[in-house]
Parts: sequence; C-alpha cells; structure tokens
Amino acid sequence: MPKLNWGILSTAKIAVEQVIPGMLKSDKLNIVAIASRNLQKAQSVANTFDIGKAYGSYDEIIDDPDIDIIYNPLPNHLHVEWTKKAVQAGKHVLCEKPLFLNPDEADELIALSKIHQCMVGEAFMVKSHPQWSKTKELVDKGVIGELKLYHAVFSYYNTDAGNIRNISEYGGGALWDIGCYPVMTSRYIFGENPQGVLATTVLDPAFGTDVLSSAILEFPEGKRAVFSVSSQMTPYQRVQLYGTKQSLEIQIPFNAPTDRPTRIILNPGDILQEKISTETFDVYDQYQLQAEDFVSAITENNNPLNSLEDAKDHCTIINALFESAKNNQWVDLTY
Ligand SMILES: NC(=O)c1ccc[n+]([C@@H]2O[C@H](COP(=O)([O-])OP(=O)(O)OC[C@H]3O[C@@H](n4cnc5c(N)ncnc54)[C@H](OP(=O)(O)O)[C@@H]3O)[C@@H](O)[C@H]2O)c1
Repeated sequence: MPKLNWGILSTAKIAVEQVIPGMLKSDKLNIVAIASRNLQKAQSVANTFDIGKAYGSYDEIIDDPDIDIIYNPLPNHLHVEWTKKAVQAGKHVLCEKPLFLNPDEADELIALSKIHQCMVGEAFMVKSHPQWSKTKELVDKGVIGELKLYHAVFSYYNTDAGNIRNISEYGGGALWDIGCYPVMTSRYIFGENPQGVLATTVLDPAFGTDVLSSAILEFPEGKRAVFSVSSQMTPYQRVQLYGTKQSLEIQIPFNAPTDRPTRIILNPGDILQEKISTETFDVYDQYQLQAEDFVSAITENNNPLNSLEDAKDHCTIINALFESAKNNQWVDLTY
C-alpha cells in the first residue's frame, strides 16, 4: 500500500511544535508540503523539517495533486471554511478541534464529504493514546463497577491579547479551546450523549471570552460528567472516574508527554490510598498515533476516531453550555 501524502495548512504553533514532529516519527505517511499566508514562513518551517514544498497561500496547497490529506490547524473560526475548500478539491481532512462552532454548519460538510468521497475527522489526539482505550476497556468490563461520575479539571494561564484563544470572533475562550476535551472524552467513556447540561462561566472583561467555566452534563440513568476549565489558572489536568466499586484516575489525560510514561490509578475505595494499583503506559507520541489512525481509517475504509457526526454533537453540547450559562438554567439536548 503506497503511503498517503499530507499537506500542512499553516505554520500554526500546534503544527510546528507537536503535530509535524509526531508525524515525522511515523513510517506510515509522508508530509510533502506546508503552506502559510507568508511564503517565507512556510519555507522556513519546510527547511526545519525537510518538507519538500512550501506554498505562500492556502489555495495552492489545497490544489496540489500530490496531496491526499490536509491537516487543518487554522484558528477555530476558519476550520469549516478551509475544510470545505479542501474537501471540494478532493482531499481528506484532519481538522483541529473544535471543528464546528455552529452545529448548523455540519450537515453541509457531511454532505460534501460524501459527494467527494473524502474523510473528515476532528483532531482529538487523546483518543489515539492507549491510556484512553485502556480506560474505556476497563470501564466497559465493569472493573470499577457501574460508572456514575466523570470528573475533570483542565487549565492553563494565557492572557496574551493577541492569542487566538483570547479573541472572541475567532472562537476563543476556555470552553471552545479545552472544554471540548471533557465533552468529547465523557461521551467516549459513557458511550452516549448527555441529555441535558448546566453551566456557569466567568468572562474576561476585556476579551469577552470565558476564562473559567464549570459544567454538569447529565447522561442517561442519572450518570454525570462534571468539569471545570480555565484559561487563567495554574496549569493542571486530571480526569477521575467514579464507579460503584472503584475510582480510576488518569494522571495526565490530555497532554500526555512524549518523554516519559503515563499512568492510570485504580482505587478500590481506600481513602488512605494504601490499596491503590497503577497501570503504566509506555512512552507514546499521541500526535503520531493520531495521524496513523487517520491514515488507517482512510485505507481500511473505517470511520475516523472522531467523525463529523461526533464533531457536530460536541458543538451542539458546547453551544448548550453557553446557552445555559447565559440564561442561568438547565438546557435539554436533542441531536
Ligand atoms: N490538539 C491539540 O493538542 C491542540 C493544541 C493547540 C491548539 N490546537 C488547535 O489548533 C488550532 C491552532 O492553534 P494554535 O495555538 O497552533 O494557533 P496559532 O499558533 O495562532 O496558529 C494558527 C495559524 O493559523 C494561520 N492563520 C490564518 N488566519 C489567521 C488569523 N486571522 N489569525 C491568526 N492566525 C491565522 C496562521 O498561519 P500562517 O501565518 O502560517 O498562515 C497561524 O499560524 C486551533 O484550532 C486550536 O484549537 C490543538
């Protein structure tokens, strides 16, 4: 099977610092081109990573007949526009999270992907990391009993007014940037969608974006996901799952490091933590695995790990969280 060729749409920080280095570890794919609005920037990144072609516009990379897959890490408000253009040019697209800011945009992209027979996936690298598939397996086997509560905290500190996360019109704010992780992973672990949500947000007075948001997602049969995310708090991340028999903690759930193992901890209800057991995972690069998983989905004609339908549901839920916070009441969800 010939290797599929990727093109990188922009010199985004996430592409340069994580995704391209991760992909270059793989012998299952090629990166053949990178584009920027500025040719010199594209050339400089191409030189750094020994990427064959550099383009000074996004249209050129999308029209390159050598490219099979576009990786789209543009600011959130440009995800749909450029993913649509790439699909219309016959490319598969792995688009950064959150793919949609408005669920009404989803159906057109779903239809386009079918017409052009192009796969589109939302780039949630965490789902490719074995610590999450193992957690899912343990929960599904009933190792923690019946899962009742998903709990997560995710935060960082960023007050740079020029950063895309602090620009409201770009789809900035903590819920869109990192709230999408607990939304996605709780859906994954529960294996279904929440039926209703309640949320509260604190807005930055200058940016107008949410900087501390807390949410309850009500799943069927009284199960719950509860999380807080912040873009102006000390960096932290943790996921805890509480079952009827045990709790399970993922220590570095979202930004698993590439230079040391990660761990999950099982606790059989021992508050002194003397009877806990740990499961350690080898060192993985989840960005490498993410790209390989997307290539496999294309070549084996499977659904991507995070489909367009999933992306639409994530977007519906996050919009409901904002609606709940604005109106100070529960919002019922239909999909
Ligand atoms: N999965 C993850 O772990 C992860 C982590 C961080 C971010 N992300 C996602 O990746 C995306 C990019 O995040 P980032 O932090 O890498 O952003 P960033 O460094 O600001 O990069 C965004 C890129 O988009 C291009 N761009 C086009 N129009 C732009 C505009 N009007 N304003 C600013 N940039 C524009 C620029 O590239 P050129 O100048 O080269 O054209 C810029 O470098 C976001 O959707 C974010 O949610 C994902």
